[in-house]
Amino acid sequence: GALPLDLFAAIDSLKKSLNAVVLAHYYQEPDIQDVADYIGDSLQLARAAAQTDASVIVFAGVHFMAETAKILNPDKLVLLPDLDAGCSLADTCPPSEFAAFKRAHPGHLVISYINCSAEIKAMSDIICTSSNAVKIVQQIPQDQPIIFAPDRNLGRYVMQQTGRDMVLWQGSCIVHETFSEKKIVQLKITHPESEIIAHPECEEPVLRHANYIGSTAALLKYCQESSSQEFIVATEPGIIHQMQKAAPHKTFIPAPPENNCNCNECPFMRLNTLEKLYLAMKNQAPEITMDEEIRLLAWRPIQRMLEMSV
Ligand code: 13P
Ligand code: SF4
Repeated sequence: GALPLDLFAAIDSLKKSLNAVVLAHYYQEPDIQDVADYIGDSLQLARAAAQTDASVIVFAGVHFMAETAKILNPDKLVLLPDLDAGCSLADTCPPSEFAAFKRAHPGHLVISYINCSAEIKAMSDIICTSSNAVKIVQQIPQDQPIIFAPDRNLGRYVMQQTGRDMVLWQGSCIVHETFSEKKIVQLKITHPESEIIAHPECEEPVLRHANYIGSTAALLKYCQESSSQEFIVATEPGIIHQMQKAAPHKTFIPAPPENNCNCNECPFMRLNTLEKLYLAMKNQAPEITMDEEIRLLAWRPIQRMLEMSV
């Protein structure tokens, strides 16, 4: 059938009739952020999913985020507007290869970044996000060896911050590895008053130039509090929508990718559209489903994360 003329109003009315909450990540297109009940980074969205009393969770984000919401809410309907909204980083860590990696490193505690599949979570001891990774690793006894998966860039950053050695799974995100150190440095020369802010999924040559490194929520908070008027933003530019709203008089420049492309936009996040979000609510599909055995195993390290990062 034809789409309603006012998708915003149609989504609002479906929220009421379904008793649904719309959770959106900062990398979603601006319209989706504007229709969401809650916008956040991965940790904030996991907390929102753990606390909601809505009957239906509409997850405007990628598959591993919606999966996390389902792990925390087995009895709720969890909808993802496009089931193909995966994650290049999560895809770098296939379960069978990770099981072999674990066997090759006996006695190691497994800390996994939330950007991984439910199967990888089920093989992990603690989950972390970019906003609590340092804090969680600091709580682990010094003599306990650690495997950190799947993001090597966040892993290396956490090692630098904590002075801990960890065995790193060599995964990475195509979006955060697209930024060009050379172009960022050139931009800084033409905008000498600007500050460079970066997500820890970026590579070391980019992070080296950053005035501030943090999760999407931390970057948003930083640019509001900083006295700078101009920022070069080295993460997915979807976050700039909220930065601009929070600090309308400041200037936000997306960090340039290596090639002249829009590959600093996450192709998976951007699969979700307002139309697909509306249709998912109207059809109550596509929904996230999961094997109960995997869900129970994956629940424990997520719960441990929530307890360790209060
Ligand atoms: P955060 O919003 O937790 O910083 O995560 C960034 C990201 O890449 C999500 O896929
Ligand atoms: Fe995955 Fe990178 Fe997209 Fe985040 S930005 S969802 S880590 S591919």
